[in-house]
Amino acid sequence: MKRLDGKSALITGAARGIGRGFAEAYLREGAQVAVADIDLAAAQATADALGENAYAVQVDVTDQASIDAAIAMVIQTVGKLDILVNNAALFDAAETVDITRESYEKLYDVNVAGTLFTMQAAAKQMIAQGHGGKIINMASQAGRRGEPLVLVYCSTKAAVISMTQSAGLNLIGHGINVNAIAPGVVDGAHWDHVDATFARLEGKAPGQKKAEVAAGVPAGRFATPDDLTGMAVFLASPEADYIVAQCYNVDGGQWMS
Ligand SMILES: NC(=O)c1ccc[n+]([C@@H]2O[C@H](COP(=O)([O-])OP(=O)(O)OC[C@H]3O[C@@H](n4cnc5c(N)ncnc54)[C@H](O)[C@@H]3O)[C@@H](O)[C@H]2O)c1
Repeated sequence: MKRLDGKSALITGAARGIGRGFAEAYLREGAQVAVADIDLAAAQATADALGENAYAVQVDVTDQASIDAAIAMVIQTVGKLDILVNNAALFDAAETVDITRESYEKLYDVNVAGTLFTMQAAAKQMIAQGHGGKIINMASQAGRRGEPLVLVYCSTKAAVISMTQSAGLNLIGHGINVNAIAPGVVDGAHWDHVDATFARLEGKAPGQKKAEVAAGVPAGRFATPDDLTGMAVFLASPEADYIVAQCYNVDGGQWMS
């Protein structure tokens, strides 16, 4: 018996990176997984690579009709939704005096409104099904503290932690566990973008920021998506039925240090 046997999962932003890693882990544990992403071609390529229990779904989490269509696709394909991972997010950085409304609105649209309204749509479906569910929101260590050049992203992740607390308390009455994961630094396209952004803002050489940050992680290295899958599977499984509104650091000791 696998830990997610017979479960139906939807993971946003799953075409690559952490979401893709979670999709692989959920498939290994017996779930059927909707690999949902704004980039349908990439989601399709990922789903094809992951095997027959993975299928691609296009979703733009900033668009309510797209969220509703993605949930409808899950119901049409598997007949139910048991697990949502709210993973899609954008990053940006700037001096406080240089933050633009465009950047603010883009990040809040995806990271905050996208998380809220995808969570809401999934919760409605789970409530209608009548047997609870699991919702996992991707927060970040960035949501637990400020960073001089990362005001907007940090604040969106603080909002994710806060929404997890309120929704967790509200939805447990329906047997839906809402929890969050706060990674530290995870290698991949997201951090390539972070590194390039800091290279521009701080005049660093490409790869320099990554190397500096890695040296400061107590575990001595960046995470890979695989470092996070244990927590992601646990929070999606019945072992987490009594865990409500929490945010767990999986960060190689970075927050504690
Ligand atoms: N990588 C890290 O170091 C790190 C650290 C802490 C938290 N996180 C969080 O973990 C999550 C995943 O990070 P990652 O490194 O895999 O990111 P990533 O940038 O590699 O992947 C994000 C995915 O989201 C998709 N996406 C973007 N906008 C979307 C939209 N509007 N609708 C649907 N999909 C959309 C992208 O196409 C992409 O496939 C994010 O929430 C991120 O903030 C990452």
